[in-house]
Amino acid sequence: MAVIENSKLAIIGAGSVGASLAYAALIRSSARTIALYDVDTRKVDAEVLDLAHGTQFTGHSRIIGGDDVSVLAGAHVVVITAGAKQRPGQTRLDLAASNVALLERILPAAIEQAPDAVFILVTNPCDVLTVVARRISGLPAERVFASGTVLDTSRLRWLLAEAAGVATSSVHAYIVGEHGDSEFPLWSTARIGATPLTEWRVEDRIVFSPGRLDEITDQVKNAAYRVIEGKGATNYAIGLSAARIVEAILRDENTILPVSSVLDGFHGIDGVALSIPSIVGAGGVGPVLDVATTPEEERLLHSSAEAISASDRSLGF
Ligand code: LAC
Repeated sequence: MAVIENSKLAIIGAGSVGASLAYAALIRSSARTIALYDVDTRKVDAEVLDLAHGTQFTGHSRIIGGDDVSVLAGAHVVVITAGAKQRPGQTRLDLAASNVALLERILPAAIEQAPDAVFILVTNPCDVLTVVARRISGLPAERVFASGTVLDTSRLRWLLAEAAGVATSSVHAYIVGEHGDSEFPLWSTARIGATPLTEWRVEDRIVFSPGRLDEITDQVKNAAYRVIEGKGATNYAIGLSAARIVEAILRDENTILPVSSVLDGFHGIDGVALSIPSIVGAGGVGPVLDVATTPEEERLLHSSAEAISASDRSLGF
């Protein structure tokens, strides 16, 4: 499929995450048109104005928006960011019931406005909501998925790059599983350049001992809690992560990203959405790539699948 010339990104929710995604997409020229939708008229109008006032300094994207769902019309990608957000001490799974109800309200209207769009769930718990969105919409699996651990993988790569003294782009490591407390790093396949992570040395000293890797795992898993404690919400990094996924779709990049899609027979896991490195292009999320795992990683993968599956079941999905 060719790169979409007059591409349109629509964002549902003009809260801190939706507005940050719009801001990131403007600066990165992720799409030709960026539409911001929210039922809160004053908020969405103010966010659109504030963003538009800076477009002299951004690329060729234009920003539109409002409280009428028709602002989503004809979008190629729709990103759902609206809903309750984690308060200090809350897990992402704690948000499930209230955000399922929101999804049931907004998704049918969004699909009516943008029937051919790829839908990306950012609202949490994004893995649980991906299963719900697929069930509500009846859309094919490739067109309904979640940002998943793209953000967590970015957090991991930043921590590893800082410790290794290299650019983040030279760190090849993934966080997989739930975008949440049961996520875990695929240490067994992590590399810096062509060097296995655990063999990386600085001044002839091994940098990533087992203890150091455990510390980094904790820092990644608890990153959102730490930011929420300090400023009430996370928004910049998730906005940038979502913009990156949108670009992979609108530019038909076939980039490998750990987005969360409903798995079908992946290592014996069915019907649960988890983040696994997958090919992302114009059609949405392509085949999930098989990953070589150690017995411990296999255990963690199934444990993560069970955490999500239990939440799905508790909601009746
Ligand atoms: C975070 C939110 C997006 O991890 O779940 O920052």
